[in-house]
Amino acid sequence: MRALESAPERYDRGIRILSRGRIDSLHRTLAEMLAAPGRRILDVGCGTGGVALACAARGAGVIGIDINHGMLEVARAKAAATTASGSVEWLELGAAEIDDRFGECIFDGVVSCLAFSELSEQEQAYILRLVLGRLKPGGVLAIADEIVPEGAWARLRYRLQRTALAALAYAWAQTVTHPVVGVEERVRDAGFRDIETTRLWSGELLLLRARRGEGSR
Ligand SMILES: C[S@@+](CC[C@H](N)C(=O)[O-])C[C@H]1O[C@@H](n2cnc3c(N)ncnc32)[C@H](O)[C@@H]1O
Repeated sequence: MRALESAPERYDRGIRILSRGRIDSLHRTLAEMLAAPGRRILDVGCGTGGVALACAARGAGVIGIDINHGMLEVARAKAAATTASGSVEWLELGAAEIDDRFGECIFDGVVSCLAFSELSEQEQAYILRLVLGRLKPGGVLAIADEIVPEGAWARLRYRLQRTALAALAYAWAQTVTHPVVGVEERVRDAGFRDIETTRLWSGELLLLRARRGEGSR
């Protein structure tokens, strides 16, 4: 989804179009998986704050981190115009920097929506290990991201749509997007337990939930 991020003020409108109106509902679903009053949540690659604000609306204390200053500015403006029972803090921070910034075992939940697809496989593996250490025992990880659907017809439809979207992305911002591959295996390799996956949006979106084991590390 990098195509829209070079114009942060256009991101929300663009992602609604690309997700065919399903992005707000996805953000709410992620918040329902993690957030409750008093829980501490980290949103990795928070962008314009959709998930973080949905978590705060459910009473959680959220930290949203992102490397894109402009996306965070949009998130801050949205937060200022919103009343939530929880709280959100926005930090301009790369995902690999959570090592230096946060102590061990401090979050009840970590979420990342449409951001893992922007990381290399090595970065994903590294960040998952960092995230595991920042979660409290029993804490929950939730990841939602673009994937290639299963089945010949679904793949064909996906490839055709991607060709159109890649053309749009190139015209708009001279860049393209990538689906994630092998996230579930990397989550397992990092040491997470109780991994559950669901395919949404006609198989083009992976929703993953996993836990830090009660006894891990
Ligand atoms: C497609 S946007 C998704 C934003 C938001 N999570 C959502 O659901 O709408 C991906 C975000 O990940 C951020 N991002 C990419 N690489 C990152 C990194 N290494 N560390 C932190 N944020 C990163 C981008 O700046 C961008 O805001």
